[in-house]
Amino acid sequence: MSENKKSKKKSRRSFIHQASGAMGVVAVAAAGWPLVDQMNPSKDVEALATIEVDISGLSEGQSKTVLWRGKPLFIKHRSQNEIDEAKSVNIEELPHPENDDERVKNPKYLVLIGVCTHLGCVPASDKGDFKGWFCPCHGSHYDTSGRIRKGPAPTNLEIPPYTFKDNNTILIG
Ligand code: FES
Repeated sequence: MSENKKSKKKSRRSFIHQASGAMGVVAVAAAGWPLVDQMNPSKDVEALATIEVDISGLSEGQSKTVLWRGKPLFIKHRSQNEIDEAKSVNIEELPHPENDDERVKNPKYLVLIGVCTHLGCVPASDKGDFKGWFCPCHGSHYDTSGRIRKGPAPTNLEIPPYTFKDNNTILIG
């Protein structure tokens, strides 16, 4: 066989290799798509990811618990005393220093994820040495801004993403 014929045969073989390799990648991607698609949240799950909470009936000093993405959320309508107390703290003395202003959009309403940052128990409202929340599991005390003040919890109660849709409705998620 001449050198020319040999080299033509070789390049045809390498083309077939490349083409079948590319087809393989496409086939694997196509087979994988239904699995990836299944992993995307369905419409009803997406809807639950955002909830509207009516706060019109929540009078000063009261709090409300709602469920969001399987977790309890606390919405507290704070009194002026509770707001003043939260603002008067020297944050340098806190285990997790955060100003009250950074934790609220409207100082009257505090919105928190009601899960203790120690090991995940649900703290009780209006309890503890700092009149905020108390986690009875191992004794964590949170203040009226939901900041950890005493006990084993390492960080403040988390704030979920939220906006005020209007004066009486909070959109969470
Ligand atoms: S889980 Fe709350 S203090 Fe341990």
